[in-house]
Amino acid sequence: MPVAVVTGGSTGIGAATVKALARRGYDVAFTYLRSEAQARAVAKEAEGHGVRVLYRRADATSWNDMKMFADEVGRTFGRVDALVANAGGLPQRRTLEESDLEYWRSLIDLNLTSAYIATRLFVPLMKGGAVIYVSSVAAYTGGGRGAFAYAAAKAGLLGLTRALAKELGPRGIRVVAVLPGLIDTPFHEKAQTGDIETWARNMVYIRRVGKPEEVAEVIAFLVGDGASYINGAFIDVNGGWYG
Ligand SMILES: NC(=O)c1ccc[n+]([C@@H]2O[C@H](COP(=O)([O-])OP(=O)(O)OC[C@H]3O[C@@H](n4cnc5c(N)ncnc54)[C@H](OP(=O)(O)O)[C@@H]3O)[C@@H](O)[C@H]2O)c1
Repeated sequence: MPVAVVTGGSTGIGAATVKALARRGYDVAFTYLRSEAQARAVAKEAEGHGVRVLYRRADATSWNDMKMFADEVGRTFGRVDALVANAGGLPQRRTLEESDLEYWRSLIDLNLTSAYIATRLFVPLMKGGAVIYVSSVAAYTGGGRGAFAYAAAKAGLLGLTRALAKELGPRGIRVVAVLPGLIDTPFHEKAQTGDIETWARNMVYIRRVGKPEEVAEVIAFLVGDGASYINGAFIDVNGGWYG
């Protein structure tokens, strides 16, 4: 059975991705940080597809946490075919003027360094397959109010995608970025985005927010054989929203 690793699999896009991959027959290892009950429920549902599921609490920004997790994944499954670096978010919105170095570093850690850590630890377990980075439309647009550090981190993922597609391509490992638009997950409550339905009605060409499953299905396609010639690409999943 192919093996997938998803960071931040307890809620939202990550949870939908764990389930989508389990449905396709992947054994799945995933992490969570705060949402233990949700993680347990996601694992239970994924196991219902007859695959093995390992889930652990691991801070995606902590090398030590992720090293312990990667070691356990290596011992349990022996290899990894798909890595989805999904953990991230915008826990606090701040303008440049409201920000300080600690804030900047925390956003870069959460949304960019976390992807580096996962990649550095899991690529040695990969003999092929794909790495997917969950970036954001904010990488292009700069995001809403107080999202400059988040947007910078998500744009950083695009550079990481292109550079590592080049570096890992010769080893048969593809690297692809997925850029969700307005997706209905707990992200927006934490980021205090406001009324996302109104945003979507005004901004998104198809006039609605997206569902986490609509991103997860794209990720599941991208890690599979059907996407074997997609490498270094930026895949928009936003219903049409570029401004
Ligand atoms: N929703 C959108 O509109 C949207 C748009 C563009 C991009 N994105 C990106 O999509 C990704 C998933 O977000 P989402 O919308 O699904 O939001 P979400 O429901 O808030 O999910 C975030 C996930 O990341 C985990 N996480 C957060 N900090 C972590 C840390 N330090 N260590 C480990 N796990 C951590 C959370 O785990 P716990 O809950 O267990 O702490 C949760 O599983 C994020 O990278 C986000 O930036 C979302």
